[in-house]
Amino acid sequence: MKILVTGGAGYIGSHMVRTLGEKGYDVVIFDNLSTGSAEAVLHGRLIVGDLSDPIAVDRVLSEERFDAVIHFAAHIAVEESVAEPLKYYRNNLINAVNLINACLQNGVLRFIFSSTAAVYGIPAKIPVSEDALLQPINPYGASKMMVEQVLRDVSSSSAFRHISLRYFNVAGADPLCRIGQRYPKPTHLITLALRTALGMRDHLDIFGTDYDTPDGTCIRDYIHVDDLILAHVLSLEHLLNDGTGRLYNCGYGHGYSVRQVVDVVRKVTGADLSVRETVRRPGDPPALIADSSRIKNELGWKPGHDDLEYIIRTAWEWEKRLKAKG
Ligand SMILES: NC(=O)c1ccc[n+]([C@@H]2O[C@H](COP(=O)([O-])OP(=O)(O)OC[C@H]3O[C@@H](n4cnc5c(N)ncnc54)[C@H](O)[C@@H]3O)[C@@H](O)[C@H]2O)c1
Repeated sequence: MKILVTGGAGYIGSHMVRTLGEKGYDVVIFDNLSTGSAEAVLHGRLIVGDLSDPIAVDRVLSEERFDAVIHFAAHIAVEESVAEPLKYYRNNLINAVNLINACLQNGVLRFIFSSTAAVYGIPAKIPVSEDALLQPINPYGASKMMVEQVLRDVSSSSAFRHISLRYFNVAGADPLCRIGQRYPKPTHLITLALRTALGMRDHLDIFGTDYDTPDGTCIRDYIHVDDLILAHVLSLEHLLNDGTGRLYNCGYGHGYSVRQVVDVVRKVTGADLSVRETVRRPGDPPALIADSSRIKNELGWKPGHDDLEYIIRTAWEWEKRLKAKG
């Protein structure tokens, strides 16, 4: 089976490529290396190219016969999407539409899409299920919601089948510490906390301590990247076995507050993390937790790393290695 992975040199995509390689899939990676790195590609063949180039995309899909496409490539920074919305609609929406079109033109009819919990905005009910109202509050979430809709429409008008996976807060790294996050400007709490522990930042900001949560700070559902990859493997097998298209939340179904994350980071790193409490950021929901019963019931997803300390320990080992590399 031959799989095309867009964005396969990035954080999550590189873990997917590693696992596909280990499982014996033939893997081709298409990535412009804007935030990804060739070093992170542990298997397969990397084609350096940009999804905004329809000729390059068509060439890849027409020259080889792919059984499925897994589409990770996107811009991912929520705050940047507010400042530069067109950058997000271009890369996340228009380039995705062009990729879907090229798939259809070349008879590639199975597609897995990286969506996000940001499509829910501030959910009325926690845990949030896939049927909840979609009310994204930033262009990043809106761009992903629109691609989900495009995929639904294309699937209902053709033999195309897709699975959209709505990721919650993805964290952690490869247990053998070969790959992990390399974002040039990280915004994720665990990464920022670990870089503070490494002395690369003065302090960690806690945005808001007056939320209606047990300790006043925001609660998020942190999922280890390898459990997310397992969800992709099950989704891929489902589509390859002629299963129908679906939409799944990917999270553990419970969360941790910012203060709880800080405590575990202190425990794992031994660092006396300097923390600054500051005002809320606009648009941060108090809690974001997945109802993940659908993927568990339908695909038999059984996460193996539902343990914040494990998540933080794997990320810590990776961050130390990344810093040592310089
Ligand atoms: N990290 C999270 O917590 C999280 C949560 C929800 C959803 N997601 C989604 O998961 C996917 C992967 O995110 P990530 O965290 O691995 O980010 P990442 O930045 O590490 O990976 C994105 C990859 O796509 C490549 N890319 C971007 N635009 C491209 C283009 N036009 N052409 C070719 N390659 C391009 C980048 O070089 C990079 O390798 C994204 O679609 C993101 O929206 C991530």
